[in-house]
Amino acid sequence: MTASETLPFNFTRLPDLPDGIFTAPLQRPARVGEDWLEPVQRTYTAEEHAIWDKLYARQMDVLPGRACSAFLKGLERLDLGRGGVPDFARLSDGLGALTGWSVVPVPMLIPDHVFFWHLANRRFPAGNFIRTRETFDYIQEPDVFHDVFGHVPMLTDPTYADYMQEYGRAGWKAMRHNRLKSLGALYWYTVEFGLVIEDGAPRVYGAGILSGPREAVFALEGQSPNRIMLNVDRVMRTDYVIDDLQPTYFVIESFEDLYHQTVERDFDRLYRGLGPGFTYANTAVIDVDDVLQRGTLEYHLRGGRGSGAAPV
Ligand SMILES: [Fe+2]
Repeated sequence: MTASETLPFNFTRLPDLPDGIFTAPLQRPARVGEDWLEPVQRTYTAEEHAIWDKLYARQMDVLPGRACSAFLKGLERLDLGRGGVPDFARLSDGLGALTGWSVVPVPMLIPDHVFFWHLANRRFPAGNFIRTRETFDYIQEPDVFHDVFGHVPMLTDPTYADYMQEYGRAGWKAMRHNRLKSLGALYWYTVEFGLVIEDGAPRVYGAGILSGPREAVFALEGQSPNRIMLNVDRVMRTDYVIDDLQPTYFVIESFEDLYHQTVERDFDRLYRGLGPGFTYANTAVIDVDDVLQRGTLEYHLRGGRGSGAAPV
């Protein structure tokens, strides 16, 4: 064990990255500093506000009864349906009073260690731009609609808000072990594509599902995907796709369950036991899984996105 593993991290400032730690070579725009925060939130045009409203209306056609209650309550408490792209200062006031989080504008995807640092300090970095009508259905880079509509309402839930902060804290440790892919899989299968049991049935809390047009119905009602109870060690060994509907969703019993599964796991030990690559394919069901539904995988077997296969 090296000294870096035993010393607690100081989250008041950005770390000096030790040599040998890989980070994506992102080009920092001149207007942003080391924290990658935009000096001000962008002023959106009437057309851009209208795009937000249209996206909002489309999601609200499918989410009631499918999104978890923490999300729907969060939308209301933050008044996200008042019309137009939300003002981050106003949003941060509301969120700050509830759980101490704020929303800060960033120009694009930001380096991992900076992203973790903001989360560890209860700041959620949100894209300072919105998709166009041409990219209305799908964009790979997270925009303000994905980030604010998908992620921010969940931060009104105190336990979930604590989980997100813990995730940020866990990030620097993962970097030191060069296990960012594994920690990324945990983020993917919880924060982006997670399901939670409510009133005996799965509901959506993952932002990638909540902010997309087709996935809420597919994830909850589709016959294709597997739905498996979350086990942190298993998920961190599981590959994932970023540009299609998921073949497998992981389900938690509650946000308390998620929080405890992660903070009580000794990640130093976990990382030492992990291989450099993923062990399980994203379609796999393994014998230790607590399976809610074993999917047919029909959508993916027919070729998935681009093949014209129906998301059944
Ligand atoms: Fe996201």
